[in-house]
Amino acid sequence: MLVLVALLLFCHGVDTIHTSADGDMRSLLEFKKAMADPHGALGSWNVSTSFCQWAGVVCSRTHPRRVTKLDLGMQGLSGAISPFLGNLTFLRELNLSSNNLSGKLPPLNHLRKLEVLDLTNNSLHDTIPDAIVNCSMLRLLNLSRNYMVGEIPAIVGQLSHLKTLELTLNHFTGAIPAVISNISNIRVVDLSFNRLRGNIPIALGVLANLEKLLLSGNSISGAFPMTIFNLSTLEILALDSNMLGMALPTFWSILPNLLRLFLNDNMFEGPVPPSLANLTEITTLDLSFNNLQGRIP
Ligand SMILES: *[C@@H]1O[C@H](CO)[C@@H](O)[C@H](O)[C@H]1NC(C)=O
Ligand SMILES: *[C@@H]1O[C@H](CO)[C@@H](O)[C@H](O)[C@H]1NC(C)=O
Ligand SMILES: *[C@@H]1O[C@H](CO)[C@@H](O)[C@H](O)[C@H]1NC(C)=O
Ligand SMILES: *[C@@H]1O[C@H](CO)[C@@H](O)[C@H](O)[C@H]1NC(C)=O
Ligand SMILES: *[C@@H]1O[C@H](CO)[C@@H](O)[C@H](O)[C@H]1NC(C)=O
Ligand SMILES: *[C@@H]1O[C@H](CO)[C@@H](O)[C@H](O)[C@H]1NC(C)=O
Ligand SMILES: *[C@@H]1O[C@H](CO)[C@@H](O)[C@H](O)[C@H]1NC(C)=O
Ligand SMILES: *[C@@H]1O[C@H](CO)[C@@H](O)[C@H](O)[C@H]1NC(C)=O
Ligand SMILES: *[C@@H]1O[C@H](CO)[C@@H](O)[C@H](O)[C@H]1NC(C)=O
Ligand SMILES: *[C@@H]1O[C@H](CO)[C@@H](O)[C@H](O)[C@H]1NC(C)=O
Repeated sequence: MLVLVALLLFCHGVDTIHTSADGDMRSLLEFKKAMADPHGALGSWNVSTSFCQWAGVVCSRTHPRRVTKLDLGMQGLSGAISPFLGNLTFLRELNLSSNNLSGKLPPLNHLRKLEVLDLTNNSLHDTIPDAIVNCSMLRLLNLSRNYMVGEIPAIVGQLSHLKTLELTLNHFTGAIPAVISNISNIRVVDLSFNRLRGNIPIALGVLANLEKLLLSGNSISGAFPMTIFNLSTLEILALDSNMLGMALPTFWSILPNLLRLFLNDNMFEGPVPPSLANLTEITTLDLSFNNLQGRIP
C-alpha cells in the first residue's frame, strides 16, 4: 500500500511538473490570477487535475492539452481580461459574457483560429483594437452592452468570415463603416444604441445575405436609404430613433422576407405611401413619432 501511495505521489508530482511547463495552463492560471471570483467559478482551476477538466475549459481532441473553448459566461467574474489569453492559440470560442469584466479588450492577434468572441454584458472600456484583424476566422463578434468607445475600426471589413456583428449598447462614435459591405456573407449587423452619425452607406446594398440590420438609437441622418431595396434577404430593418427625414419612398418594391420594419422616432414627412402594401410578409410596421400627414392608405 505504502509503495502504491509513494508511486502515486511520484507520478502525480511528475505530472504536475510536466503540466506546469504547459503554456496553455500557464495562460489559464494568469487569467485566473487577474480575476476576483466571488462565486468560486474557477474553484476547480488548480493543478490537482488536468486543466482540460477545469470548469469551462474544453481541449482539442486532436491536440491534447490545447484549449479550444473557454465557456465562462455568467459566472460573476470581475477584473481585467489577462493578455495571456492571447497565448491560447488553439482557441476557437471565447465566451466571457455577462460577467463584470473591466479594462480593455487585450490584443488577441495570435488567436488565428478564433471563430466566436462573445464578451456581451460586461464593463469593457476603450476601443476595438486593430489587432483583431488577425482573428481572421471570426464568425461571431458580440461586444454588446459594454462601454466601448471610438470609431468602429475599418479593419472589421477584413473579417471576411463574419456572419454576426453585434455592437449594440456601447458608446461608439463616428460613421457606419462602409467597409462592412466587404463582408459578403454577413447576416446580422447590430450597431443600435451607440452614438453613430452620418448617412447609411449606399455600399451596404451589396450584402446579399443580410437578414437583420439594426441601427436604432443613433444620430443617423439623411433620407430613407434607397439601397435598402437591394437587400432581398432582409427580415428585420430597424432605423428607429435617429434623425432620418424627408418623404418616405413612394414606391416600395417587394422585400419578400421583410417581417419587421421600424421607422419610428425620426423626422419623416409627407404621406404614408400606399405601396407599403407591397411588403407582403410584414408583421410589424412602426411609423409612429414622425411628421407624416394625410390619410392612412
Ligand atoms: C481543486 O479542484 C478540485 C476539483 O477539480 C476540487 O475538488 C478541489 O477542492 C480544489 N482544490 C483546491 C485547493 O481548491
Ligand atoms: C455565451 O454564454 C451565455 C451564457 O452561458 C449564453 O447565453 C450565450 O448564448 C453564449 N454565447 C454564444 C455565442 O454561444
Ligand atoms: C503570453 O502572453 C504574455 C502577455 O501577453 C507574454 O508576456 C508572454 O511572453 C506570452 N508567452 C508565454 C509563453 O506565456
Ligand atoms: C448581464 O449580466 C448580469 C450578471 O452580471 C445578469 O444578471 C444580467 O441578466 C445580464 N443581462 C443580460 C441582458 O444578459
Ligand atoms: C464589479 O467590479 C467592480 C470593480 O471592477 C467592483 O467594484 C464591483 O463590486 C463588481 N460588481 C459585482 C456585481 O461583482
Ligand atoms: C498580424 O499578423 C501578421 C503576420 O503574423 C503580423 O505581421 C502583424 O503584425 C499582425 N498584426 C497585428 C495588428 O497584430
Ligand atoms: C451575442 O450575440 C449572439 C448573436 O446574436 C448570440 O448568439 C449570443 O447569445 C449573444 N450573447 C449573449 C450573451 O447574449
Ligand atoms: C474590399 O475588399 C477588396 C478586396 O479584398 C479591397 O480591394 C477593397 O479595398 C476593400 N474595400 C474597402 C472599402 O475596404
Ligand atoms: C444591388 O445588388 C446587385 C446584385 O444583387 C449589385 O450588383 C448592385 O451593385 C447592388 N446595388 C447597390 C446600390 O448596392
Ligand atoms: C407593388 O409593386 C408592383 C410592381 O412590383 C406595382 O405594380 C404595384 O402597383 C405595387 N403596389 C402598390 C400598392 O403600390
